[in-house]
Amino acid sequence: MKSNNKHSQGRVAWRSPSNIALVKYWGKYGRQLPKNPSLSFTLSEAYTDTYVEYDIDPNRAQLELTFSFHGKTHAAFEDKIRKFFMANPDDFPYINQLKINISSQNSFPHSAGIASSASSMSALALCLVHMEQKVYESSLGQAQLFTRASHLARLASGSASRSVYGGLVCWGETEWVTGSSDYYAVPISQGVDPVFLSFENTILMVDKGEKPVSSTAGHALMNKHPYAEMRYYVARDHVNQFSEALANGDIAAFGRLLENEALALHGLMMNSDPSFILLKPNTLSIIEAIREVRDSEDFPWYFTLDAGPNVHVMYPHEVATQARKYIETRLQPFVQDNGILYDRVGQGPSALVWPS
Ligand code: PMV
Repeated sequence: MKSNNKHSQGRVAWRSPSNIALVKYWGKYGRQLPKNPSLSFTLSEAYTDTYVEYDIDPNRAQLELTFSFHGKTHAAFEDKIRKFFMANPDDFPYINQLKINISSQNSFPHSAGIASSASSMSALALCLVHMEQKVYESSLGQAQLFTRASHLARLASGSASRSVYGGLVCWGETEWVTGSSDYYAVPISQGVDPVFLSFENTILMVDKGEKPVSSTAGHALMNKHPYAEMRYYVARDHVNQFSEALANGDIAAFGRLLENEALALHGLMMNSDPSFILLKPNTLSIIEAIREVRDSEDFPWYFTLDAGPNVHVMYPHEVATQARKYIETRLQPFVQDNGILYDRVGQGPSALVWPS
């Protein structure tokens, strides 16, 4: 990035969605690099809006940062963002000249078990790259700007690297995806049957409490996990198997892999040392009901889980009306406070205009 000595001020804003992993990223090394490639669908309705006001002054000597969440200062998030800047000085050569006011809000309740770091950190990364483009008039093309945003998002939260793009996204090197990298995510635009690009993803909130294990601590559990190497092997194999199911429009094969990945993630957590059981009794009741309806009604729906007790139910758009009926009658009884978010595969982030 070519620096200039001008004093520059401005505003940028981005909306960025959360994503749900099909092949899970669980285990990392170095500076937020994944031990295995992961695949995800970017969502549509669960997103973060981030507004950034910046002032880059060559005479400033230290970063000045404020952060507010839903209109209120939030010390913990502010601290996280400050650490992200400070831990990656090579990526932000202008950091000590920067004064930045960040305000952010989610479309979904905080701590609802939706990956808020993916949406919030990708939204922030996109704002930063947009700011850099305005201030330093970089010659990077559109694709390179998104690559840089994905790289920055990854440094803040690995899964956030994937939220920079819509649809199906891959992060981590795999033979299947040309140009894939451990350093940033890439969108997968070919070899995917359209049925998957309009897939529904309904999030059932079983427990809105804070997670008992942070994702940083969770990834660290893999460092001395006895099954770690086998897990990374299986994850790579699952990426290959997903590539076939996705290309062939094979919903049943897709669903089998999806559920296996979800249970593998929780299995690894359960037999880690220390051990964590994040599933709740109602998580299992929902899983049983999904499988029961699938088997008895030959109904094509499947579940996945993030690192928490909430369930993501996935099904093709054409069965959405019937799925909604099953959700209301069979699954809702196990959901906390009517916490159901009807989401779907989405188009990815968009720039926002500042309210006048
Ligand atoms: O991005 P992190 O460090 O919060 O890790 C996310 C890990 C999972 O959400 C459990 C899986 C994934 O790939 O999104």
